[in-house]
Amino acid sequence: MNNAQLLNDNNKDVLTSSPWDFRSSQELSMGKVYEEKGYIIERGEIKYLNLLKKQIEAAFLDFTEKGRQISICLEEAHQLIKHDDSNNLRLHVMQRLFMDTTFHRNYFNAAKHVIHALCGNELAMQKRPGISINLPHNPNDALPIHADTWNGVSPFELNIWIPFVDCENTMSLYILKREKYNQRLGDSKGLLKLSSDDLFEELRDDLTWIPVKYGQILAFDQSLPHGYSINQEKSTHWSMNCRFKGLHTPYWDKKLGEYFMPITVKTNTRLGMNYKHPENWV
Ligand SMILES: [Fe+2]
Repeated sequence: MNNAQLLNDNNKDVLTSSPWDFRSSQELSMGKVYEEKGYIIERGEIKYLNLLKKQIEAAFLDFTEKGRQISICLEEAHQLIKHDDSNNLRLHVMQRLFMDTTFHRNYFNAAKHVIHALCGNELAMQKRPGISINLPHNPNDALPIHADTWNGVSPFELNIWIPFVDCENTMSLYILKREKYNQRLGDSKGLLKLSSDDLFEELRDDLTWIPVKYGQILAFDQSLPHGYSINQEKSTHWSMNCRFKGLHTPYWDKKLGEYFMPITVKTNTRLGMNYKHPENWV
């Protein structure tokens, strides 16, 4: 069995690579999917997702209202927002959401079981999560193909991506699955020297547009190439993305206390950080 161990965990057979791997069967099977595909779709905690959506809708209404009493759902945002205004809307919503940490706490709780399974439970969280609002046929809202790790981002980060409308086809995030990425890198050493437009064309047939509905969350590996093409559907795309990482994992360009905030510092860590060695100890 090549060093693999068949263990019994709650009457389920679990294949682990080491006798010292004590992860539960559920954690192992989630990890296997994530490792193979580069992403996993799970159900989010609907109570917290609804709270997040309510806050986003309030910020959107606040932007569009300007004295008028208009109520419009997020999918139909393009009926009120001009292409040139999508970035202003994005900045306005972010400013409203991050006035305190209520939104962050709900975001974490909405995805806690996935974060715990893949990342751990003593964590740092991105201080200002990203928001994507992709109006139909707006080239300004496309996100060129990239991997975050190509630009100084730590590979220890887990990206939790939450849609606030149902996303399929070009409303979805696309990704190059791990196996394809490794295969294409092996086929052509010059692949990553291409411009992002050329790289997208080169990889287009191998990309996966990941369908995710409201109520689900996507955890993806941002060391794999990903992005948004132009939204060719009839609805506006709304999603948020936020990075989590094990508090004690290495930090690259994005520093703790600036980009990341510690959110679940355990008592033993707090005691350890405050420990003072007795003076005159021999
Ligand atoms: Fe990214």
